[in-house]
Amino acid sequence: MLACEAAREPVVPHRSLQLCEQLADHDPTRRWVYAMSKLAQEVILERAVGGERLTVLRLANVVGDGQHRVVGRLVEAVLAGRPCEVTRSVRGFVSVEDVARVVSLLPGPGLFNVSAGCWSIRELALAVGAALGVDPDIVERPAPADDSCGQVDGERTRRLLGTFEPLDEVVRRCARASRDAAVPMFPLPLQVVVPPRPNRPDLVTERIAACLWSGSLRGGRWSGELTEQLAERLHLGPGRRLVLTSSGTTALRLALLAAAGPPEPGAVALCSAYTFHATTEVLLQMGWTVRLVDVDPWTWTLDPDLVAMELEDPSVSVVVAVDALGNPADYTRLRAACDTAGVPLVADSAPALGAWHDGLPVGTQADAHAFSMSFAKTVSGAGSGGAVVVAADAQLDASPNWLRSSAMTEPSAVAALDQVMVLERLVARRQEVAQVYRERLLGLPGFAAQHVRPGDGHALVHWAVRVPGQLGRERLAARLADEGVRTKPYYDRVAVAPVGPLPITATLHREALALPMSSEMSTDDADRVATAVARSVRSLHPRRDHVHVPLQRTVIA
Ligand SMILES: Cc1ncc(COP(=O)(O)O)c(C=O)c1O
Repeated sequence: MLACEAAREPVVPHRSLQLCEQLADHDPTRRWVYAMSKLAQEVILERAVGGERLTVLRLANVVGDGQHRVVGRLVEAVLAGRPCEVTRSVRGFVSVEDVARVVSLLPGPGLFNVSAGCWSIRELALAVGAALGVDPDIVERPAPADDSCGQVDGERTRRLLGTFEPLDEVVRRCARASRDAAVPMFPLPLQVVVPPRPNRPDLVTERIAACLWSGSLRGGRWSGELTEQLAERLHLGPGRRLVLTSSGTTALRLALLAAAGPPEPGAVALCSAYTFHATTEVLLQMGWTVRLVDVDPWTWTLDPDLVAMELEDPSVSVVVAVDALGNPADYTRLRAACDTAGVPLVADSAPALGAWHDGLPVGTQADAHAFSMSFAKTVSGAGSGGAVVVAADAQLDASPNWLRSSAMTEPSAVAALDQVMVLERLVARRQEVAQVYRERLLGLPGFAAQHVRPGDGHALVHWAVRVPGQLGRERLAARLADEGVRTKPYYDRVAVAPVGPLPITATLHREALALPMSSEMSTDDADRVATAVARSVRSLHPRRDHVHVPLQRTVIA
């Protein structure tokens, strides 16, 4: 019934999402729902053009240029010396060239299965190994239940059109082309940031339309519900208050005001040197003297030992920690240092919605936390938005009123609420992508990523990797751009002159490169990004003039 309904007329994806999810929930193997979605496409086309004018090709797995997929994955595993993990399944395969030949020779309308034959994935791995002159290490896993629909019987088409290219030749050609990186991994570039799509687009559209129509554009029902949901998820007790804002930058301004008040002339703010420009810009705009402090070489977050040392200076009136890229700052130790000195701790938690410290959501560890809901974060308030957590009695709207025009709009609250309801799922998807990156990339010589402290959870707004100097971050980024993988040097150097040396931050500014990361990405996307990185690294010769210096913790006398 649901399938018939979905296939009744062409619909844009965001209108059919809910229906498709219900349909998929009825099929734990996902194989039949996949086959039915293909059938639905045929039905739609038949209605549109009529059966007498329609030729349908039911393709087996296509192997060849632009079709990286299973052969490409096996090639990368073989080249990296990793085991080829294969399921115990059998699939039909055909070359790109044979598909083109079938299209050009077809006798007329009708339905044609196009497959050169069926192989087990193990046979495929062996053929890939043979093509590359390597004896592959194959690890077989059981196939998902009822897996037979991947086998395509192409006999009728073969009788009509003559022989297909034998599979061992197809695989040999394709494996070698994949090794030599003949075609970009992503013909349509994959952006470094892919904003999260709505979970319930139908509801979001309806609610936003109702807000616009009724004129309820600020401080209405959806802002109320989002505030409640966030307060609950962040475990805010009665002593804290959450205010929705138009951006993370606005939230940070309010957090500083609430926790530290307006600065006295000459008052110093200690601020993590490894951060986004907005952090220091807000401090400078408010009149603070910014003193950058270096970060820990493992977590890339504010170094508590250096903070404790700087806090001996009585002009320091606030400490600003940053949950760098979504990795929580070391709140336990920063808190202790700030409490000893009697100085407020403010957290730029812009990328930390969904992160946790010591088993608790990030949001209550500092005196105030500022979150962003821009298009690049785990939750997007339709492109922009934020939230600030402050003490319940914080004066923000006395005269002068800092809250004026800084509130989130209702349409943004509608979009953000939709995603906050599935925040755990969104972060879990990012964790899966990061897991692929870690497994595939951290074995490359000199590559290193952020460490997450035991008990903490990274929200993974970005996943950045240190690219060793002898390889060259810019050279790698340029090669990846050719592969259709967009990257970003992250974070960039902020525009504040450092008082002393910042060796860890300086290294990160030279070496850290953010790869695509989004809850919209699949593990297959992540795997292809990792393959593009591995291929690019293979094609780049290390620079001889560079000496690699491992990051070391600053020694405090
Ligand atoms: C660390 C940090 N602080 C502040 C901001 C500013 O947030 P918004 O863009 O929502 O103003 C960002 C946004 O990327 C950020 O990463």
